[in-house]
Amino acid sequence: MGTADPLLDTFGRIHNNLRVSVTDRCNIRCFYCMPEHPVEFVPRAEILSFEEIERFVRIAVRLGVRKVRLTGGEPLLRKNLPSLVRRIAAIEGIDDLSLTTNGVLLAELAQPLYEAGLRRVNVHLDTLDRERFVQITRRDELGRVLDGIHACRRAGYDPIKINAVAVKNLVEPDIVPLARFGREHGVEIRYIEFMPLDAQGLWLRDKVLLADDILEMLAREIGPLAPEPNGDPRAPASEYRFTDGAGRVGFIGSVSRPFCLSCNRIRLTADGKLRYCLFAIEETDVKDLLRGGAPDEEVVRVIRSTVRAKWIGHEINSMQFVPPPRPMYAIGG
Ligand code: 5AD
Ligand code: SF4
Repeated sequence: MGTADPLLDTFGRIHNNLRVSVTDRCNIRCFYCMPEHPVEFVPRAEILSFEEIERFVRIAVRLGVRKVRLTGGEPLLRKNLPSLVRRIAAIEGIDDLSLTTNGVLLAELAQPLYEAGLRRVNVHLDTLDRERFVQITRRDELGRVLDGIHACRRAGYDPIKINAVAVKNLVEPDIVPLARFGREHGVEIRYIEFMPLDAQGLWLRDKVLLADDILEMLAREIGPLAPEPNGDPRAPASEYRFTDGAGRVGFIGSVSRPFCLSCNRIRLTADGKLRYCLFAIEETDVKDLLRGGAPDEEVVRVIRSTVRAKWIGHEINSMQFVPPPRPMYAIGG
């Protein structure tokens, strides 16, 4: 499967994980990602087709990619997403195919996506409180998101994870209810430290609710937690389980527990740019290669050189930090 010559960067990190954004459009407007309006989306003609995405993924798999996650924007807005899932699930060599969604359309799509071969979902949900949901997302869709999560449970997805962005002075009242919801319904809550990827430049380091503070709240209000030893050492989340045996939580501590040194990810944007980091300033176009009839070898060369150009990591905590030129929805979470 071509793993003899894996995607190695100059810091010795092997890249086997590809995140593919299938659209930059979204049906809600989380303030830490999108502006309210006007939002400039990529013109449809610039968005990679399913054929182009599939070809790229096949080439990446030849280079050792084993995990693929579909993201957006909101990936369920992409028409016929189950047919893309079916194509990717059929590629030999992929061990893990997953999806990150805001859940608004999951009630209708959980079952068709499962039938197409998807088994893992992460649903983005910051609060169980309707008013705060509206405040954060500027849309009144909490009910549909909850329906979507329940539809995933009925369809048999395992695991189901919930991504909750941790913004200080905002979501403190949601931390414990989310964890209780997770314990009750068998879903893992992953608290994601607010990262400087918002469209409006609102991020400040002291607006981040840190993993340690969340851990302390959970331990105080629910009960003791113990670090989970058997996780994937290259996964970004640090995982804990409640010692009473009911449920797990994870932390994506991009700010307080950076995980760049074990990063194994590359990202393909909806408009066909390859990025070696969520925070990368530069990106490499592959759309023109895919459209212009370039041979696979040329795409391979671009993937390898992008990985080789990868920096050691983001500098969120230093004066040098420069936010990437595109916000989250345009990159793909
Ligand atoms: N900081 C941290 N996480 C974010 N997400 C979106 N914007 C931000 C941000 N500024 C998360 C959402 C989504 C995932 C793709 O990225 O929770 O689930
Ligand atoms: Fe949409 Fe996700 Fe951005 Fe929220 S974070 S606006 S759900 S793309």
